[in-house]
Amino acid sequence: MARIVVLTGAGISAESGLGTFRDEDGLWTKYDLEEVATPQGFRRNRALVHEFYNARRANCASARPNAAHEALARLEAAMPGEVLIVTQNVDDLHRRAGSRNVIEMHGALMRACCAACGHVWAAPMIMAPDDPCPACGQPETRPDVVWFGEIPYGLDEIGAALEGAQVFAAIGTSGQVWPAAGFAASARAAGAKCVELNLEKSEISGDFDEHHIGPASVTVPLWVDMILSSPA
Ligand code: APR
Repeated sequence: MARIVVLTGAGISAESGLGTFRDEDGLWTKYDLEEVATPQGFRRNRALVHEFYNARRANCASARPNAAHEALARLEAAMPGEVLIVTQNVDDLHRRAGSRNVIEMHGALMRACCAACGHVWAAPMIMAPDDPCPACGQPETRPDVVWFGEIPYGLDEIGAALEGAQVFAAIGTSGQVWPAAGFAASARAAGAKCVELNLEKSEISGDFDEHHIGPASVTVPLWVDMILSSPA
């Protein structure tokens, strides 16, 4: 059971050049999330949705993990079996930094799935509406990303981890999207120490015992060093 559970949001990947959603130049200021991040939007215009995720997949492929992702990988390597990352992000920067115990609760840009048969495979860089599913052949392929109104992945495992965590940290999230926005309160109710590492106060700052304000590439390595230098 992981002693340290870390929730990450778009802010941890901001310094890798990937956009956040709700900052002043965030993705939801440029795209209508109803059009590109809901099942209804996909039914209305598959080409637009594939275009949106193709662009994000290309950005992700050209981005690199930053010092925050690398620090979390270092923490997991130093404390095998005791660190779990729950990410809201669909980029693959945690995995590319070396983190292994990761739950991608909103899915992954680099995975595709078939809405007809459920088959999941590594997404091609460019997806198009008529791509046939490699398993069933039907043209029902989509990014394996959880859209608004859909059930995030791993909720049972996440719930159990929040019950047993001694430390819960949230990094780079505005705390505006449920169920992730409720994780700190759940962990705290179960006795965890809650730490927020963010560029500024968030909607859920009141749920935390400790705050480290600043860019993740600065605050996360310092926080990890502090954990690794303090007695178990
Ligand atoms: N370092 C740390 N925090 C940062 C940085 C940075 N360099 N840059 C921005 N932030 C913070 C912002 O202050 C903000 O609180 O990261 C947070 C980003 O918030 P959002 O853009 O709302 O992203 P997130 O919380 O991950 O959104 C949650 O909403 O649209 C859905 O599915 C999408 O997973 C996403 C979910």
